[in-house]
Amino acid sequence: MRQIYMDNNATTPLHAEVVEAMLPCLHNNFGNPSSIHWAGRQASVLLQQARAQVASVLNAEPHEIIFTSCGTEGDNLALFGSADALRTRGNHIITSAVEHPAVLDACRYFEERGGRVTYVAVDSNGRIDPADVEAAIEADTVLISLMWANNETGTVFPIEQLSAMARTHGIRFHTDAVQALGRLPIDVQHTPVDLLSISAHKIGGPKGIGALYVRDGLELSPRMHGGHQEKHLRAGTHNVAGIVGFGRACQWVEEHLYTEHERLTLLRNRLEEGLFAQVEHVSRNGDSENCLPNTLNLTFPYVEGEGLLLALDMVGIAASSGSACTSGAEGASHVLKAMNADDMTLNSSVRLSLGFHNTEDDVEYVVEHLPRVVQRLLAMSPAFDELSEYECDVISCEIDPHAH
Ligand SMILES: Cc1ncc(COP(=O)(O)O)c(C=O)c1O
Repeated sequence: MRQIYMDNNATTPLHAEVVEAMLPCLHNNFGNPSSIHWAGRQASVLLQQARAQVASVLNAEPHEIIFTSCGTEGDNLALFGSADALRTRGNHIITSAVEHPAVLDACRYFEERGGRVTYVAVDSNGRIDPADVEAAIEADTVLISLMWANNETGTVFPIEQLSAMARTHGIRFHTDAVQALGRLPIDVQHTPVDLLSISAHKIGGPKGIGALYVRDGLELSPRMHGGHQEKHLRAGTHNVAGIVGFGRACQWVEEHLYTEHERLTLLRNRLEEGLFAQVEHVSRNGDSENCLPNTLNLTFPYVEGEGLLLALDMVGIAASSGSACTSGAEGASHVLKAMNADDMTLNSSVRLSLGFHNTEDDVEYVVEHLPRVVQRLLAMSPAFDELSEYECDVISCEIDPHAH
């Protein structure tokens, strides 16, 4: 059976060039970059090279890059590091209702410790209105944290406008750019963000390594204590192999960003077209104009999302759920809920996210098999009677009872 991986917003395979770059660090080049001897110096050279590569993809300076263990750690360092450093100025953070849990759960913890957070709402397409963000600013606001692109729907926030607005108010601006890196151009000289989190495993790099861009001169308190590494902002012996892999993945992004953006857009459009042509009443979630080139979040009415994922897995297609479906709206996607989605959408949505390794063939395979899977599930659905009323003669393709 073919295996088609279309869950690249969860994680990506590694580029061959990344593995190749990392291998020497797992064999001979094992030194601790903090050591002064030859082994340490060799590792230190690799660390510097990688820091320059990561900085370059953001158009930042190498000293503005703080390596972390992942995007989640970068988000936490940005939030708590700012809240601690600016404690005497205020205790209020602004974020959105659709952030990744790395920001949302951190904000909830901040509230438990006495902080105040405003969660700005989005519209039914997942868009944020910069005027709502501006209206949420209070005298004691110390940080605005808004994601560059949403991991579930791919909706892109107008970060340039939002960060410029924050700057005019003299408020620090953080963006979670974990999904934006590698898919959209990022230039911190052009976009006045103060803090920006990224993660290697979303761009063909290894897991367990991320970075926080910290604008030159910004005061930040560490979350991890115990060493001088990363300018005392992130103590702990460097993950040299991970950092080298991250650097190489960033170089790949610099070399391929624009061609890859175009290629992924074409593939995603073909996928959307192919599925819409065959599955009646399918609908798309998110802002289709301002969207990541690789992401398609779809609702298949009357098909239980979790069941669809399992059935897709049986034909070799790895996708993911836009919502946790089994317990109805209770465990459903906070992103779709914030978009005021109805129960059908909360229960019947699936995310397909493309990556650098996906080909036209992969897309055609999904266009061929996904509608059949939907048809099969509809035939078994208790809501099938309702469905015929709904005129959901989903597809004309045959149902093969032996298909997996
Ligand atoms: C938008 C966003 N932020 C943060 C993270 C967390 O990144 P990491 O897995 O590197 O901790 C993710 C991962 O899915 C994400 O999509």
